[in-house]
Amino acid sequence: MIGGDLIGIENLDREDIEAILDTAEKMREVGTRVVKKVPTLRGRTVVNLFFEASTRTRASFEIAGKRLSADVVNFSPMTSSLKKSESILDTARTLDAMDPDLVVVRHAVAGVPKRIADVLTAPVVNAGDGAHEHPTQALLDMLTVRQVKDRIDGLTVTIVGDILHSRVARSNIYGFLKMGAEVRIAAPPPMIPRNAETLGVKVFTSLREALSGADVVMALRIQNERLASSCVPSIREYSATFGIDRAKLHYAKDDVIVMHPGPVNRGVELSHELTDDPPSVILDQVRNGVAIRMAVLYLLAGRRSEPSRGELQ
Ligand code: CP
Repeated sequence: MIGGDLIGIENLDREDIEAILDTAEKMREVGTRVVKKVPTLRGRTVVNLFFEASTRTRASFEIAGKRLSADVVNFSPMTSSLKKSESILDTARTLDAMDPDLVVVRHAVAGVPKRIADVLTAPVVNAGDGAHEHPTQALLDMLTVRQVKDRIDGLTVTIVGDILHSRVARSNIYGFLKMGAEVRIAAPPPMIPRNAETLGVKVFTSLREALSGADVVMALRIQNERLASSCVPSIREYSATFGIDRAKLHYAKDDVIVMHPGPVNRGVELSHELTDDPPSVILDQVRNGVAIRMAVLYLLAGRRSEPSRGELQ
């Protein structure tokens, strides 16, 4: 079972991942109720420390905390004493002195959540740090695949796009490999990390070969804020070669599903049609994001045991 902080999937084992996915399955039901609230984390305080923009992750951590009856505080860097030159670590220590039960951290620089975790008494969850890891995204992706395919073991998962700059790719590579999937990555060579094979993935520069027989296709966002566009001659050429549309999807299995962590650059990584319609499961991923974050909050800020029936009523 996980204990302490959740900084990355790299440090989890298969049993940890299965425990989180199983707990999230129980949490999912809460979101289907008219009154979407259980008392599980009543009296606990969760602080969201987002130093980088986010829609899905930030909103779903907030909704997850509120569904579990935690008090959720959203820290806003723009109106904080960071503007008066207080350091990030001093800001974190200051918030820690208010006795939160868990702190969620997103930062554009890899390693910041770990550095904060090292000085905090409260558990820290990494909500995405630079190009390092985005563990709860990978967990919600694995939950989505497990729901649709009934398994992860033995599936072929093809991740397409800007692997080099993608924390989502890194966390999913660790996660899907630990869960027994074959993981392929496909991208123009400048978007493939130099040590990619040592991670245990199969590396392709031909999208057609990478998609052949795939059960799951995960398209990644072109991360312009991390200078991804400098890795390709033009976005139009990238889209023509590595953008996923229905024609290219024919190389994959008939029951392939299409995933994207969002936000989508429509018409670049994915055609408009595949962004909105089956076999896209993008909104299922978003929905599962709340359940996964409820599970993580419960396991780290609440009791580290299965939620009893009473706790979910
Ligand atoms: N997938 C993801 O992390 O999206 P946000 O940046 O909107 O949180």
